[in-house]
Amino acid sequence: MMRFRVLPDGLAPAPLSALPMKILITGGAGFIGSHIVDALLREGHAVAVLDDLSSGSPGNLPASVPLHVADIVDAEAVRRVFTAEKPDAVCHQAAQMSVSRSVREPLFDAQVNCLGLINVLDAAVAGGCRRIVFASSGGVLYGDVTTPAPETTPANPVSPYGITKWVGERYLSFYAREHGVTAVALRYANVYGPRQNPHGEAGVVAIFCTKLLGGQPATINGDGRYVRDYVFGPDVARANVLALAATDRCAAGSLTSLNIGTGIGTDVVELEAVLRPAVGAAAAARGHAVDPPPPVHGPARAGDLRSNLVDATLAKSILGWEPAVPLDAGLALTAAWFADRQRDA
Ligand SMILES: NC(=O)c1ccc[n+]([C@@H]2O[C@H](COP(=O)([O-])OP(=O)(O)OC[C@H]3O[C@@H](n4cnc5c(N)ncnc54)[C@H](O)[C@@H]3O)[C@@H](O)[C@H]2O)c1
Repeated sequence: MMRFRVLPDGLAPAPLSALPMKILITGGAGFIGSHIVDALLREGHAVAVLDDLSSGSPGNLPASVPLHVADIVDAEAVRRVFTAEKPDAVCHQAAQMSVSRSVREPLFDAQVNCLGLINVLDAAVAGGCRRIVFASSGGVLYGDVTTPAPETTPANPVSPYGITKWVGERYLSFYAREHGVTAVALRYANVYGPRQNPHGEAGVVAIFCTKLLGGQPATINGDGRYVRDYVFGPDVARANVLALAATDRCAAGSLTSLNIGTGIGTDVVELEAVLRPAVGAAAAARGHAVDPPPPVHGPARAGDLRSNLVDATLAKSILGWEPAVPLDAGLALTAAWFADRQRDA
């Protein structure tokens, strides 16, 4: 039977698995990966991180966490990390995650997201580690949908990045059947929160926070009426902890794909309107008054989906997961984190 307790930050209940596990988190120095590290440590698990630091940072990790700086495309390096750490489970977050880079450089994208995944799976199987949780994406699998898409929605990835997430799930399914791996693919909606990198093209919240704290207007692409399902990073981390625990209960040799999102749509104009006062309040609370101006509109971005939402009913029934942090509270926490970072810079 699963036992529950309330986390110290009061977010939501999380399961205590029967035994602490050793978990290797690839991409653990990144935004979502580092929140997973925090959540696993809180649950009493041992963790280690494999990351090439291409977008992640050691500063996202507690100093006590072993960090192996390695590229998942390098099969030997990946194998060495598995040999050194002997993990019970892998949480695979490392990826090339820029859609536009995947369009410009589909070979690089496939090297990291397909060959890198295969290297991780091979090293896991060779090391006797047969529990895998994989960061997939609801946004790129389902395409334009105006109501929350369930997992049964036919996959229709249009970018090379989306294709690699879809192929990644197919490889997991193959390794599950062939090698008795138990795998869970979590299809995230649009994840936002503290530690998100503001320098990429994704992560509109991180990009807007940085602009607004600098007293500049946010630039909204086109009319901004692009609807997304925003889910808070620490909520996504908790879904990963629950999924890792669920690999105890799931039948070996199976892949379970689950959506992780809120099912609530917010467009970019609405998002900016909530974020701007939150940034102003966070800055003022730190003695740095900013009064960011209203947004400006730039050109529309080619290929941007009009609407994308996921239905996470299955994650609730299988994992007991539900989002705990509503968008306004999550945006306030994110604005506070970016304001702290600016003050400390
Ligand atoms: N952020 C979102 O909204 C979102 C949505 C859907 C899926 N995802 C997936 O979630 C995962 C984590 O994304 P994130 O938002 O935390 O991004 P991130 O860039 O903060 O994290 C990715 C991490 O992987 C590392 N990495 C990249 N290439 C690597 C390589 N070749 N070898 C080793 N490490 C490598 C980076 O240094 C970084 O620390 C990714 O798989 C991404 O595709 C994210």
